[in-house]
Amino acid sequence: MWRVALCLAAAAPLPAQTPAAAVPRVRLVATGGTISNRTGGRLTAEELVKSMPGIERYAQAEFEQFTNVASSELTLDQWLGISKRLNELFRTDAGLAGLVVTSGTDTLEELAYFLDLTVRSEKPVVVVGSMRNPSTLGYEGAANLLDGFRVAASPAARNKGVLVVLNDEINSARDVTKTDAVRLQTFQTRGYGVLGVVDADRVVFHRDVVKRHTVRSEFDVASLTTLPRVDIIMVYQGADGDLIKAAADAGAKGIVIAAAGAGATSGTQREAENYAVKKGVVVVTTTRTGSGRIAPPRRGANAPPPARAGTLTPEEQGRFVAGEDLAPVKARVLLMLALTRTRDPADIQRIFSEY
Ligand code: DGL
Repeated sequence: MWRVALCLAAAAPLPAQTPAAAVPRVRLVATGGTISNRTGGRLTAEELVKSMPGIERYAQAEFEQFTNVASSELTLDQWLGISKRLNELFRTDAGLAGLVVTSGTDTLEELAYFLDLTVRSEKPVVVVGSMRNPSTLGYEGAANLLDGFRVAASPAARNKGVLVVLNDEINSARDVTKTDAVRLQTFQTRGYGVLGVVDADRVVFHRDVVKRHTVRSEFDVASLTTLPRVDIIMVYQGADGDLIKAAADAGAKGIVIAAAGAGATSGTQREAENYAVKKGVVVVTTTRTGSGRIAPPRRGANAPPPARAGTLTPEEQGRFVAGEDLAPVKARVLLMLALTRTRDPADIQRIFSEY
């Protein structure tokens, strides 16, 4: 109800910020987070938009409130709702240049990657947050939001997938990670670096994203009402396989293993993985190291024998999928979406190689 009410309020232009005729229209869809978390009452989408001095030079700012909570409080149903709303906005409003989404930073990278895989438009979608709240000295939320609007208004940001903008830096939703619990420079793309920067004179891109996303994605949220359960389990010294078995017994359709190094398990986890694949669960191996690639097993005449030959049928062995260079939390997002399309592990491996 709240969202509907504020959508209607947003129809009128902001009187204090009459835009220059030529600047693009960019709309904020606010979901909450530290950027809004003012002591005594959260900032609304309208207050956020009004907090950006000079926005009229870059964009005609519109706004709506989707929700106003911490990122970790967002449900997967709300993720579906946000994605559907962004798709609807692009479908029904051809004049819109781009969208900005505010999010809490704790799980921002997960929402951003979900949108990267499900918003079917070449137009920019920029996810923004802040590390300091509006009641803290040095609050950087208004600056990050202004940067986000500038990127969303920039033709250079088209067809780059969903972008994460904080601290004057532009990162790809696919690759970015929150690397520090408190510091402002927390969002980093380990191994590959930033896509671009937001400087005083202009928005500058240094490189492109080659993996499939947005308009080239095969995932369609329009008909989805729920996402399949996928759990993440970490490898650590002497880890018991019971947690893997528990996830399989609790109904997980997929399990992402945050493995040691290039895919090692510990303790009784390997036996538990076998238990899970025998129950039909797809097990995706990623690395807990923070970067690096888990490659699919070699196939063909010169390939070594499968690691689990004798224990599992070839079909069961096929349910092990390599997570490529995705972080465990990103692999979970991709696996949830992959499982809405297919249960064929070879097809899921293809998806992990292409996205
Ligand atoms: N740490 C913030 C987040 O990631 C939450 C702060 C809040 O909005 O209550 O969402």
